[in-house]
Amino acid sequence: MCWKDIDFLAQKHKVPRSYSGAEESAPSSTELGMTQYYDAKRVLTHTLLGPSQNLQIGRELMRKKVTVVGAGNVGATAAHWLASKELANVVLIDVLEGIPQGKGLDLLEAMPIEKRDSFVLGTNDYADTANSDIVVITAGIARKPGMSRDDLLNTNFKIMQDVVARVVANSPNCILVVVSNPLDAMAQAAYKLSKFSRNRVIGMAGVLDSARFRTFIAQELNVSVENVTAFVLGGHGDTMVPLARYSTVAGIPITELIAKDRLDAIIQRTRDGGAEIVKYLKTGSAYYAPSAAATEMVEAILKDKKKILPCAVYLQGEYGIKDLFVGVPCKLGAKGMEQIIEIKLTPEEQAALQKSADAVAELVKVIGV
Ligand code: NAI
Repeated sequence: MCWKDIDFLAQKHKVPRSYSGAEESAPSSTELGMTQYYDAKRVLTHTLLGPSQNLQIGRELMRKKVTVVGAGNVGATAAHWLASKELANVVLIDVLEGIPQGKGLDLLEAMPIEKRDSFVLGTNDYADTANSDIVVITAGIARKPGMSRDDLLNTNFKIMQDVVARVVANSPNCILVVVSNPLDAMAQAAYKLSKFSRNRVIGMAGVLDSARFRTFIAQELNVSVENVTAFVLGGHGDTMVPLARYSTVAGIPITELIAKDRLDAIIQRTRDGGAEIVKYLKTGSAYYAPSAAATEMVEAILKDKKKILPCAVYLQGEYGIKDLFVGVPCKLGAKGMEQIIEIKLTPEEQAALQKSADAVAELVKVIGV
């Protein structure tokens, strides 16, 4: 049922339309905020078609709402995964005019083929994002060859200031999943700017880094990726700490299956995983795996899965680190980050994690958050 159908029925049955009591043509989802749009659609549908259609609209209203800020490569692809998994209604927002609208509509038109009823809306107006359950922040510039993630710091911090203020004003109860780089520093900026409790601001990096690690392990051993669990700690960057002894294939530690020199090479490739893709793409950075990783985190929260995933969170003494976002294993559920899982590290692993935390601390100091 779309506005055109409703218009057609209204004319056919000569039923006066009741939205705002006016007779003007039906407003579109891009002219109204999403909530208003649904309200208007419900009023009209109820007037014209009775309660059974109203149930259908009710279902749409009950679905969760996820906003993705930044309709670039990562953001649009995240919207794609979210909608095609029917996890939520999705609002895609960007400062560029037309881009989120075009991508949002294109994605919406894919839903009949995907057999999904997710509603997707592209917009430049934060009113459309109102009362989102989760907001995924991908706004910002991405790396080009020769750049490190840290080179993005000042530009993306300015963007983060703008985005977080608007998100908080429109969705004061949402959970933030931060993707923009440099990840740990941007997550810390979002945490400080939003003033949300720490369970509601979570950075995406570890899911991606461990997915890369898992890919390379599965390739090395010629086994299903489903058999491989991998563990990566620390900041998202060259100092990340892949933990071989907690990474397993069907429960067997990979240290027993892969020779040390091969394992070292895999670990190095994991650390350089982002740069490897930047080198190929030349004009931007990875986005399929990053957006799939953010989607896995959103799914764990929306479905209250209590899933343990490596995420960047604000540590307050865990792992001996205080007042800093660093990647550690966390339980994700309806409240966001519900628990930090502390594991015992060897002195070498602890030192590597501390080095990674020090690198994050340096960036955080530059932007003063
Ligand atoms: P992109 O350049 O394709 O898209 C970024 C989008 O953000 C653009 O459409 C731009 O118009 C938009 N934007 C800029 N300022 C904005 C604002 N104030 N409000 C709303 N939108 C705004 O970049 P891509 O590839 O999508 O990457 C996005 C970010 O994610 C980058 O910072 C990148 O480094 C980061 N990233 C992080 C990963 C991680 O593991 N945490 C992995 C991959 C990317």
